[in-house]
Amino acid sequence: MCGIIGYVGKKTAAPILIDSLKKLEYRGYDSAGICVLNDSLQLQTYKTTGKIADLELVLPRNVGGTIGIGHTRWATHGQPNTENSHPHLSGDIAVVHNGIIENYLEIKEKLIECGYVFKSETDTEVIAHLLHSHLYSNNSGVNSCNSGSQSKKCDLMTAVQGTLRALEGSYAIAVLCSSEPDVMIIARKDSPLVVGIGNGEIFAASDVTAFLKNTTNVVYVDDNEIGLIRGGNVEFFDTDGNKVIKETTTIEWDIEAAEKAGYEHFMLKEIHEQASSVYDTFAGKISELDGTVNLDELNLSDEQIRHLTRIEIIACGTSWNAGLLGKYLFAQLADIHTDVDTGSEFRYGYPVMCGEVLTIAITQSGETADTLAAVRSAKSYGCRAIAITNVVGSTITREIDSVLYTRAGPEIGVAATKSFTAQLITLYMLALHFGRVRGKISAEDSKNLLVALKNIPADIQKILNKKSIIQKCARQFANSSDYFFIGRHLNYPIALEGALKLKEISYIHAEGYAAGELKHGPLALLINKTPVVAIATKGHTYDKILSNIKEVKARDAVVIAVADEDDTEIEKYVDVVLRVPRSHVLLSPILSSVVLQLLAYYTALERGCSIDKPRNLAKSVTVE
Ligand code: M6R
Repeated sequence: MCGIIGYVGKKTAAPILIDSLKKLEYRGYDSAGICVLNDSLQLQTYKTTGKIADLELVLPRNVGGTIGIGHTRWATHGQPNTENSHPHLSGDIAVVHNGIIENYLEIKEKLIECGYVFKSETDTEVIAHLLHSHLYSNNSGVNSCNSGSQSKKCDLMTAVQGTLRALEGSYAIAVLCSSEPDVMIIARKDSPLVVGIGNGEIFAASDVTAFLKNTTNVVYVDDNEIGLIRGGNVEFFDTDGNKVIKETTTIEWDIEAAEKAGYEHFMLKEIHEQASSVYDTFAGKISELDGTVNLDELNLSDEQIRHLTRIEIIACGTSWNAGLLGKYLFAQLADIHTDVDTGSEFRYGYPVMCGEVLTIAITQSGETADTLAAVRSAKSYGCRAIAITNVVGSTITREIDSVLYTRAGPEIGVAATKSFTAQLITLYMLALHFGRVRGKISAEDSKNLLVALKNIPADIQKILNKKSIIQKCARQFANSSDYFFIGRHLNYPIALEGALKLKEISYIHAEGYAAGELKHGPLALLINKTPVVAIATKGHTYDKILSNIKEVKARDAVVIAVADEDDTEIEKYVDVVLRVPRSHVLLSPILSSVVLQLLAYYTALERGCSIDKPRNLAKSVTVE
């Protein structure tokens, strides 16, 4: 769970690497480092614990060299300290790595027997030493890290190929070698890697945002591919050395879209962007005049949709919460039974996949390791699998039968916000489309839903315009040690998501419950003045949630209700009401989720938390 960057060009590499690492910091930020090949052809390495700003402090002025690699780390093997931070070196070789080498202990033992001395606890250091052992014939004495006296037995490319053959696990790597000073080698397996083609310069990174300000022309590296970067060019090979011809894609995101645009945090910016991002998600896909949704990219025939017996949703975290709402929608709108599994459970859960099952992977990043592995497992049962994702060219998009892009734009804040509402919109469209094809929803009902959907951007804007009310509420309860979120039916996943958002960024203990479950245990936790957020928008469970509100009020809890703007009854039973514009009953969860995002945001702000980069978390979880 790290970010890597490589630069080969004519400019001074160090400032470019630092700048790129700042863009990648969301992937991990416990330590960082760079290595450049200076003008005297020596590797110069600078590392530190902490964030990229800390790395800048240890960097001397005028670090020369026009080729270099960098890394921002989120620890998996070994503590976050300077020794464990990347790049890792072996003689004249330097490596940065994102991923996990599963057989590193086995390799490490063999390398130690050959005389290699390990300085870190990381799995990555084995890559550096293994490369060195492939490159040089005389392995004795290498613990001095002096390759000068040793003779090379192959070129760097051949050494990388040999090394990769021995590795099990996942990796995106960039390699420098001072004895081949004009070359950088990159490779990937199960970890993201993308190459930026600039004017006489090449970038390689975990994510396009790292180099977007320099170039928008990119090549997505696929699994088991190796890139040879030299003199402003990059060539790709498979692990056997056969040339691979790759397509260059132009990215349409501009750098502005990936920066904060004046907001204090990316999260706040991204919450605000929802007033337009949800529109982008459905733009061009819905026709409220005839009540249809156009999802041609699904490549599913009406016949296939009619014959579906079950949907299997696989996702993690926020995306899982979206999936749970999808389950209710597929039942209500399309009469399809749906199971929702987390990636980590599905992959080891002996799933029953008989009948015409459609697997839907929901993942903002398209890189979540558990989701990817679970989808691979689902596909092994022979079922069709589609993905709902936000990141074009991400790993999932290359492994799946078809993709629905959420089009929410880059999301930098670790807490998912606009990607969640975009996932919800996509699920509404999908369920509606299936419902129409299966004859389970009338054209009239469908039109009404789509008319309301078209209003959602304006409804979100209304919530944003009154965010100061939510901020006031957040301040009032910011010192609480526990928070509860309750909801029923479609509001239950929103309660789960509200709790996840709050705990993730404010570090307040928060639980989301199906409101009817309170009396089966959680009520025992309620003490005087515990805030309970009840999502109580109108719908067929409204009276039931009112009863639950009375239940918790009787235990002296403080109730914050999320309710429709025209609901005057609710005020009689609760302490605070946070309003959402009146919408279609099926769509109000989208609006409630924006309210809860703001509640979490302002609570975290009040508590002085690191909102965009919460402790112990990273934006995309590319390891199991
Ligand atoms: O990229 P994905 O949607 O697959 O990520 C899944 C989770 O890691 C993610 O939703 C996580 O729970 C968020 N940080 C929550 O805000």
